[in-house]
Amino acid sequence: MRHILVFSGSPRKEGNSDLLADTFAYGAEKAGARVEKIRLIEINFSPCIECGGCDDTGECILIDDMTPIYSKIEEADIVVLSSPMFFYNITANSQALVERSQAFWIRQYVLKQGHIGGKERQGIFLSVGATKGKLLFDGSLRVMKYFFDAIGGRLSAAILVRGVEKKGQIKQIPDVLQRAEKLGEAAATHGDYEKIDGIWLPGGTNR
Ligand SMILES: Cc1cc2nc3c(=O)[nH]c(=O)nc-3n(C[C@H](O)[C@H](O)[C@H](O)COP(=O)(O)O)c2cc1C
Repeated sequence: MRHILVFSGSPRKEGNSDLLADTFAYGAEKAGARVEKIRLIEINFSPCIECGGCDDTGECILIDDMTPIYSKIEEADIVVLSSPMFFYNITANSQALVERSQAFWIRQYVLKQGHIGGKERQGIFLSVGATKGKLLFDGSLRVMKYFFDAIGGRLSAAILVRGVEKKGQIKQIPDVLQRAEKLGEAAATHGDYEKIDGIWLPGGTNR
């Protein structure tokens, strides 16, 4: 059974990216995965404070709600981050999560301890924005590449939705939530992401 950890980075509960995350989770659970979802706004944690406390051990010395999440990431086969675009970026909560992965980066690249939790995991990015700008997700895709790399993974797929602003508006875009459900199912079952229309894949042009 695949373990999937879903982080939802929007402050807005049941907003557009939260719905994407829930629909992905629904598809994955239905297909047999064990899914845990964490809404980052509901937990109490700080960004990286650059104290150097992880430099020699690869263990973050900050004690907050992120502390138990490190082992959840180690156990996960797939990590999902869902975030709206705020000023052409992931949200501050999402960025705090990304920064706290520095301890994992140290383990892999300074201490040479190999993959986190002894396995390579997939990373999936779900995102929405109000505008239709061509470059809307470009910076965040770069961030996701390095985030998933730091946590022993690889950015494997993304769903990127433009032109949604009001809470729940994503439900009006044809096929988007079905796409998220299919991606969840495929993630749970080692399915082929290439078969899902309209998703972003590394190296592809489908975005
Ligand atoms: C502080 C803030 C900044 C935003 N910046 C952008 C932006 O740079 N580009 C964009 O397309 N949408 C931007 N938006 C719009 C949101 O991305 C959009 O409303 C999205 O659907 C919100 O998703 P959510 O319901 O998951 O929170 C911004 C919204 C807020 C509140």
